[in-house]
Amino acid sequence: MCGIVGYAGRRPGKPIILQGLRRLEYRGYDSAGLVLMEDGGPATVRALGNLDRLVAAAGDDPSPARVGLGHTRWATHGRPSEDNAHPHHDCTGRVSIVLNGIIENYKDLRTELVDAGHSFTSETDAEVVAHLIEERAADGLPAAVRATVHRLEGHFAFCAVSADEPDIIVGTRHEAPLVVGVGEGEMFIASAIPAFLSETRRIVVLDDGDVVTVDAAGASFSDIDGNALEREVSEVTWDADAAEKGGYETFMLKEIYEQPQALADTLAGRLTRAGEVDLSEMGLGDDELRRLRRVFIVACGTSYHAGLIASYAIEELARVPVQIDVASEFRYRAPVLDAETLVIGISQSGETADTLAAIRLAREAGSPVLALTNIMGSQATREADAVLYTRAGLEIGVAATKTHVAQVAALLLFTLALAHARGTLADDERLRIGRELHDVPRLVQRLLDAQGDDGHDGVRRVAERYHDERFFLYLGRNMGFGVCLEGALKLKEISYIPTEAYAAGEMKHGPIALLDEGSPVVVVATDSPVFPKLVSNIEEVRARGADVIAVASEGNTEIAELSEDVLWVPASDPRVASMLAVVPLQLLAYHIARIKGFNVDQPRNLAKTVTVE
Ligand code: F6R
Repeated sequence: MCGIVGYAGRRPGKPIILQGLRRLEYRGYDSAGLVLMEDGGPATVRALGNLDRLVAAAGDDPSPARVGLGHTRWATHGRPSEDNAHPHHDCTGRVSIVLNGIIENYKDLRTELVDAGHSFTSETDAEVVAHLIEERAADGLPAAVRATVHRLEGHFAFCAVSADEPDIIVGTRHEAPLVVGVGEGEMFIASAIPAFLSETRRIVVLDDGDVVTVDAAGASFSDIDGNALEREVSEVTWDADAAEKGGYETFMLKEIYEQPQALADTLAGRLTRAGEVDLSEMGLGDDELRRLRRVFIVACGTSYHAGLIASYAIEELARVPVQIDVASEFRYRAPVLDAETLVIGISQSGETADTLAAIRLAREAGSPVLALTNIMGSQATREADAVLYTRAGLEIGVAATKTHVAQVAALLLFTLALAHARGTLADDERLRIGRELHDVPRLVQRLLDAQGDDGHDGVRRVAERYHDERFFLYLGRNMGFGVCLEGALKLKEISYIPTEAYAAGEMKHGPIALLDEGSPVVVVATDSPVFPKLVSNIEEVRARGADVIAVASEGNTEIAELSEDVLWVPASDPRVASMLAVVPLQLLAYHIARIKGFNVDQPRNLAKTVTVE
């Protein structure tokens, strides 16, 4: 996740901005930069890699500048590089901006600006903002920022400075955070409170559409049309640790709550509201997609579950046969591969040793490889022929949550693109599913809001009831099978309770022997064509006296009578339901582990990235 830090005051800004960037390091970044408003004009330093490199590039010279901006970048558009690091400038070098988020219409804006004579120095979506401000520079910075916001689509927060008004910073937000810190004779502006928590606890949280102008004396607020606004100052009571977690008790809970954002970012610019998909960035053209005769998915752990979920959609919607295997098996089993088999390697880190080995093996066998990863520039991206990024931001909790739903969303985009290229789906059905997918960030948000602000209602009650159980069985069918595997993995890895996850139809072939009076059985039973089959499985479970905890779609009247507990999710298309149904299962595992007193961010024996063979 990118980080913004700004300072306007009486002290030299450089060390304060660098310290602020350090406080945002935990959010992850691949490059960093700052701009200081020196007497001779803006002085910019940027560096690829960690902040030590930026500090080295900035040198030891104390800068007298009392206004400046800093940024840590997590690449989404344009690879990590010094040129793509922020701040970005207009053509004159007088305007500098730092931006978090995504400008969805940047391609059109860039074309328009280039036609008007602007020259660009980066591959980013963000740079258009500096040039749009330049277009209106004569109006003054606050008005130019407001005019710019009118041109932008997407979700973003940015701050701008100009050599023509070197004492002010202008910031704005639209569906991405921006906070003002109020000091004595100095002001701070940042994307997250930890950036300035050591300097002041008095803050103003901007609303969407707010434009703020800060200087050493204070802040003034307006809407994007220039109408003045009043904004209240509040006091932060969090300590630094809580601030890093955004007020959540753990990174894992914070990341569960970041899932709507991770989904929105992953879909942004790739899926229109009308349901049309554009994955031209991926590096696989329609002709290549049409020529495919098979897809082979390889991955480990949670990424494997995302692949398994998607495999059902690919076969059903794009009518391409799909094989899937865990990477550690695939690489040692002499798989049959050819040039017409697309191998999709899924790895949020892009560094998992078994998945990388599987990717190499596939390429050696002559198969094209598509890497699906969350990390720009990771090893998987260097070894693959084509790359598709999830844009979930850095995941700190060891248990994967937001990267998982982002993987499923990206794979569904891929599925729709494949179905379109191959003409396997009627246009109205393809667009309908696309529209439902477009809605998934909102539906996940609604689901999370229903849990209560602190995530302690609803699912928590179920967790309290069952946290002492010694074994959980998870059942699902079709895409819900992948979801139940993922729910079971979450529970075992953070609460150390043994779990089994089975395709529900397999239960009677063995695992049913495990069931007893009161055994908890989690059934993923969201609305889908296999729902009646799941009802039969639930009956089988109940006949053994076991307790059914169902994950079901709101409005399903049948399920409540068949289950001890129901974890409701918004009703949706069955493919979209896979991203909704996993959320209560993540929360169930989370609450059980917390009730038992475990450190969910750092479970025993596990590492975030498994680089050993
Ligand atoms: C489980 C989990 C792991 C990872 C697996 C693959 O919560 O995080 O199972 O999914 O180690 O990691 P990546 O996706 O980085 O290849």
